[in-house]
Amino acid sequence: MNDHLGSVMATVTVTVASSIIVATIPARTASNDGQLLKDAQRVFKPLPKDAATPDFPITPERVELGRMLFFDPRISIDGTVSCSRCHLTALYGTDGLPKSKGAFDQLNDRRAPTVLNAALQFKIHWRGDRENVEDQARKALTFSESFGNPDNASAMAKLKAIASYTKMFQRAFPNERDPVTADNWGKAIGAYERTLITPSRFDEYLTGRTEALSKSEQQGLRTFMDTGCSGCHNGVVVGGGMFQKFGVVEDYWKETGSQKPDKGRFDVTMNPADMYVFKVPGLRNVAMEPLYFHDGSVRTLLEAVRIMARVQLGKTLSNQDTNTIVAFLNSLTGKLPQNFAEAPVLPPGGFAATQSADVKADIISASSNDRTEQSAIEAGFAAWGTCEYSRSGLR
Ligand code: HEC
Ligand code: HEC
Repeated sequence: MNDHLGSVMATVTVTVASSIIVATIPARTASNDGQLLKDAQRVFKPLPKDAATPDFPITPERVELGRMLFFDPRISIDGTVSCSRCHLTALYGTDGLPKSKGAFDQLNDRRAPTVLNAALQFKIHWRGDRENVEDQARKALTFSESFGNPDNASAMAKLKAIASYTKMFQRAFPNERDPVTADNWGKAIGAYERTLITPSRFDEYLTGRTEALSKSEQQGLRTFMDTGCSGCHNGVVVGGGMFQKFGVVEDYWKETGSQKPDKGRFDVTMNPADMYVFKVPGLRNVAMEPLYFHDGSVRTLLEAVRIMARVQLGKTLSNQDTNTIVAFLNSLTGKLPQNFAEAPVLPPGGFAATQSADVKADIISASSNDRTEQSAIEAGFAAWGTCEYSRSGLR
């Protein structure tokens, strides 16, 4: 169908149906590049090069250790759960599931948001029940739907069973008597996450190179701001800076089809004002991260944008406005950081702590059938202790 005609028809229908005055201003826009840039610069900020703070400094040793821990499944109760199981490189730090699966396939209550740029947000998790990425990582160790360890001590025993890790903790946290702690696990992984920043063409645009965005992306940016999206999705992460009710104008589940409404932050604070309140998610890389919303109830970005206008702002967007907003959101896709795009090679070992004694015996007898293989394995273990880790991929 003719695009223009379609959007006019949609607009008319809605105006009648809800008697909301829909702003049909697609023609304003990019004709005045300079004004659009100024308006955008007031609302958004380019990404910094990393998310280090005085309280959470990043050092190459911490980042390197944190990167390995992020990809290592052996610290979980059943030996299958790493951060990267639910925050996959190939899916831009998400897992594409409505609810992630942790140890022993236990289902999480919500969908996994990305780890990319996550450290720049004011709070962590959909309901803001984690203070920062360090707090998040530390608590994941003993969270039953995540790593599932009964306590920090048993998690640390698994880490210590892999000798190279103790050395890496010592280097990352010098002058500490026993640096292998849950706190330092959180700090190391947090330091790594603080390097996972993905600048995009939108950042080039914000620093003044207006041609970095196409005309339709610029039009989408204008519509995004004029419709009111940027009232909540703003700042460096295009979100991640405040809590808001999901469903300001209308119950969200009527539009998303969510089976069981999640009460959001209310379940954390028990404050009635927090009913159905969630953290406004950052929209950086959003086009690469379906499914959408906290329960993954919506499959496409077009549909998510349409629903947002409806339930947050009481507006029905024309097809054209929805499309240009999506075009703008596509410009928020950055390149994966090298140290996330590539998985690290992990130090071998640790079977004593992650396998039962019987399984361990089986592994040993199987490999000792072949003496060459057995000694090769032992040589590998020994070599690892003296190995200098590659610094490639780190800034
Ligand atoms: C079993 C799957 C799973 C594992 C393992 C897992 N996560 Fe997550 N992650 C999730 C889910 C689900 C959420 C959303 C939780 C919520 O908000 O209720 C989440 C949220 C997060 C967030 C918050 C993002 C935001 O925008 O608020 C960060 C950061 C994060 N995880 C990092 C990690 C790190 C680091 C690890 C390893 C220590 C890890 N995750 C392990 C599933 C997982
Ligand atoms: C009143 C604040 C508010 C306004 C205005 C708003 N949003 Fe949202 N947005 C939210 C909240 C809160 C969520 C999280 C909902 C949930 O719990 O899943 C969200 C989620 C989203 C998501 C899903 C992100 C993801 O990773 O699943 C997209 C896309 C989105 N908004 C785009 C928009 C667009 C486009 C507009 C304008 C038409 C808009 N939003 C207006 C608060 C707002």
